[in-house]
Amino acid sequence: MAVIAIFNQKGGVGKTTTTLNLTAGLARMGKRPIAIDLDPQAHLTLTLGVTHITGDESIAAFFRDNTPLPALMRELESGVRMIPAHMELSKIEALQSKNAAAARKLKTGLDESLAQQGVPILIDCCPTLGVLSLNAVLAADRILVPVSADFLSLQSVNKLDLALKALEGPLNRKIEKRILLTRFDARRKLSFDIYDQLKKRYGAQLCETRVVENVALAASPTQAKDVFAFAPSSPGARDYAKLVLELVEAGFFD
Ligand SMILES: Nc1ncnc2c1ncn2[C@@H]1O[C@H](COP(=O)(O)OP(=O)(O)O)[C@@H](O)[C@H]1O
Ligand SMILES: [Mg+2]
Repeated sequence: MAVIAIFNQKGGVGKTTTTLNLTAGLARMGKRPIAIDLDPQAHLTLTLGVTHITGDESIAAFFRDNTPLPALMRELESGVRMIPAHMELSKIEALQSKNAAAARKLKTGLDESLAQQGVPILIDCCPTLGVLSLNAVLAADRILVPVSADFLSLQSVNKLDLALKALEGPLNRKIEKRILLTRFDARRKLSFDIYDQLKKRYGAQLCETRVVENVALAASPTQAKDVFAFAPSSPGARDYAKLVLELVEAGFFD
């Protein structure tokens, strides 16, 4: 099964919210996904209720000391399996940014261990195209790009598209991606305009599912819950359930 990087170099577009709820939705389908938090801000880790961990217990230890990935994985009460992040990860970004080989480390680590489990692996990226995100992109079979329904977000996805295309040459393969429109507000004409522009530009690469702006999605992390556990009949739960089905049926995680 596939390794998926949830990436956009813009912050606040819904990467962590999407990783959290996609992982939860896949777990509910019995697919035993693994979520990796690759953001030094550790928002996914916090959202999953994992607190008081040290750098040694986080993915930073994999980059710094070659601690094997399975040794860092934890299984939560909800059944979700995850590898936490820690602030120390920002040092990896600073120290290794000039080393090209360092960008392949996560791919090698996954190929040697967790990839063999045959389950979906979802990587929540940080909002920069530095060595950490490059690790995620190079390790990933596919990329999911959340784009929030605002003007600047539209600009950033076009830039990201160019950056990914530039990587395809050295990688010697196409980078398969899907765009997900998030924070969709049906009261704003701008939301529909952005959807139309994305559809025109990205066609079938744009997910049919749009995720609405919904308070349950913003509030569920305050209780360390995914949206299905927090508010199962909310519009946010409806949209992420629809997204999981759409992507599973499209073979996105195969
Ligand atoms: N569809 C949505 N509706 C309402 N709030 C959302 C939605 N998606 C994300 N948020 C909120 O917006 C903020 C940024 O989202 P987040 O997933 O952390 O973005 P990123 O990881 O790209 O920085 C968070 O507070 C999150 O709870
Ligand atoms: Mg995030």
